[in-house]
Amino acid sequence: MVSLRPRRLAALSITLMLTSMTMAACAKQDSGGDHSATDGNVVHVVCGATEDWCAATTEKFSKSTGVKADFVRLSSGEALARVKAGKGSPEFDVWYGGPADGYSAAGSEGLLEPYVSANAAIIPDAYKDPTGLWTGVYVGALGFCSNTKVLAERGVAVPQSWADLLNPKLAKEIGMAHPSTSGTAYTALWTQVQLAGGDQTKSLEYMRKLHPNVLQYTKSGSAPAQMAARGEVAVGVIFSHDCVATVEAGFPDLQVSFPAEGTGYETGGVALVKGARNPVSGKKFVDWALTTEAQEIGPTVKAYQFPTNPDAKVSDKVVKLPSIKMVTYDATVAGQAKSALNKRFDAEVAQAPKS
Ligand code: F6P
Repeated sequence: MVSLRPRRLAALSITLMLTSMTMAACAKQDSGGDHSATDGNVVHVVCGATEDWCAATTEKFSKSTGVKADFVRLSSGEALARVKAGKGSPEFDVWYGGPADGYSAAGSEGLLEPYVSANAAIIPDAYKDPTGLWTGVYVGALGFCSNTKVLAERGVAVPQSWADLLNPKLAKEIGMAHPSTSGTAYTALWTQVQLAGGDQTKSLEYMRKLHPNVLQYTKSGSAPAQMAARGEVAVGVIFSHDCVATVEAGFPDLQVSFPAEGTGYETGGVALVKGARNPVSGKKFVDWALTTEAQEIGPTVKAYQFPTNPDAKVSDKVVKLPSIKMVTYDATVAGQAKSALNKRFDAEVAQAPKS
């Protein structure tokens, strides 16, 4: 048996104490910790859908399940940044809404917890990640939202192609968000990549040509609908459902069109955040978000995305997806390219001086 002198013993016990304190601190920092036992019957949601939809959804979820819910509405890039800032001690339990490429980017950074809900079985494969990193809750198509009065004043027809947007008569007449903050704008950028056969440099060339016609890159993707409604710009590059909702809000001069070359689309996702403080409630939220009950809320708050649950009722205001020419849009690939491509957009397009 090894005998230790009192001083060595004291040093050893201090070392052991420090080691166990460090281990405890590490355990607290460990984003993969299982918090199931301390779940507070509450879910904190970072929500990328419209404010009204986020509110209606969290409210109905609470009524249906008895689990409390709150939300913060953030655009896709902002949501990703907040989830990243919370790594190790997450602020949110689930991420709901916003294009799936943001979820894929988060997954690459180890910010999401794969969860295959039993309710995901009914969701078509095209609208979910096979490992359960994210599951689709809605689909939306990118389009143009034109103020027909403003266009008539400029002597320009409603744009029917990406090429039409380059018309010099549309100088500073186009509203679009910035792809770093907005999932809508990143969908527009990735659409150009697809139209250029996967060539990111060519996609940025198109964006550079479009740049003199863009009045402003907004933070949120749907903001250009308001700008077009107020006549600040002639055309917004946005998800078509946001244009339909703005028409309904009292702006009948707005008109939706889709580019003939092909357009991109989003699969709005739902996912569990890694290390969620309330994982049991978070999983209940994911399960519920895939039900018809959840997916029929949209149209009650003027949100006309296409539901991913094939049994959910579809409003006649929802875009008829098969009638539009779509580009191939792989959210996983788009998400993996997101950070670097956005940096290039910033450096090579958005900061270019307008003539
Ligand atoms: O307004 C709703 C919506 O268009 C969603 O369909 C979409 O997922 C989200 O906004 C994208 O928002 P943002 O472009 O601000 O990230």
